[in-house]
Amino acid sequence: MRQPKVTIKIEQYLDERKTLVDKALQKFMPRPSGLASDVINAMNYSLFAGGKRVRPILCMAGAEAVGGSTDSVVPVACAIELIHTYSLIHDDLPVMDNDDLRRGKPTNHKVFGEAVALLAGDGLLTLAFNLMAGYGAEKEVEKKALLRVIDLIASAAGYKGMVGGQVVDITYEGKEPDPSVVEYIHRHKTAALIAASVTAGTILAGGNKDEEKSINRYGQQIGLAFQIADDILNIQGDRKIMGKGTGSDKEKGKITYPSVFGTAESTKIQKELIKNAIESLKGFDNRAEPLRDLARYIINRKL
Ligand code: IPE
Ligand code: IPE
Ligand code: MG
Ligand code: MG
Repeated sequence: MRQPKVTIKIEQYLDERKTLVDKALQKFMPRPSGLASDVINAMNYSLFAGGKRVRPILCMAGAEAVGGSTDSVVPVACAIELIHTYSLIHDDLPVMDNDDLRRGKPTNHKVFGEAVALLAGDGLLTLAFNLMAGYGAEKEVEKKALLRVIDLIASAAGYKGMVGGQVVDITYEGKEPDPSVVEYIHRHKTAALIAASVTAGTILAGGNKDEEKSINRYGQQIGLAFQIADDILNIQGDRKIMGKGTGSDKEKGKITYPSVFGTAESTKIQKELIKNAIESLKGFDNRAEPLRDLARYIINRKL
């Protein structure tokens, strides 16, 4: 009987935070003008097509967990959403997953063509770094902490993280399902940026090394669970609710948790990861409650 209460609470929390992130993103994004307006249009199209804003919300919750204010991390939280949106535009391209629906709308390349979509992704990725550097120049944030965060995010998004995972995801299409390969793919393509999001919040809010370490462990665990949930939703989810295609992983011979372990075992692994993630937060007080709720939400979501 207590389950629905938790769900309502987290849904309200997500809603409020999403509104806050969307407003800030509107403020930060350029309006189309001049000769390059095509690419600016394409960048705005995918960014505002929808999206749960899970990574920025995690970044804010990571700050809150150590007593920081959410406002102080908003620019970095938004920068992470730009990087994530870039990754989706490129992920959907015909040379990658070749998908035609994302966030409930035709994918970027379907609307703007492949060349502009590629550049819109590049534009979002690089703008994210302007946003983070500009934030340091404008506000009295601790410069050392900000530089560490920029370094952390760059590593999580690059070849040591998301780019590294994406390349293995693509090159192993159609190959024999392998437990160590799927773990590598998911930890890199998805968990790395999710862990960096929540850890960035904690660092910027002045969390100590122990707190940072625990929050990072939490982020890695929920990040892996997040991608396993995405794999399961690709099989069992509703295209209308998710706003993206289903059944495509099997068609493409993707290495996923269900393809390696089966759906029932994948669900078990997911639950174990969430249990461990919540366990990683045992030293934190009730200011980490949103992080605990977010962990549970990640494997119960339909979208
Ligand atoms: C989708 O991410 C891609 C994965 C890494 C699984 P999200 O599920 O966060 O997508 P949006 O941002 O809500 O569209
Ligand atoms: C996306 O993985 C991970 C990224 C880094 C973009 P998927 O290809 O499995 O995600 P969806 O299902 O298309 O959102
Ligand atoms: Mg993909
Ligand atoms: Mg994809």
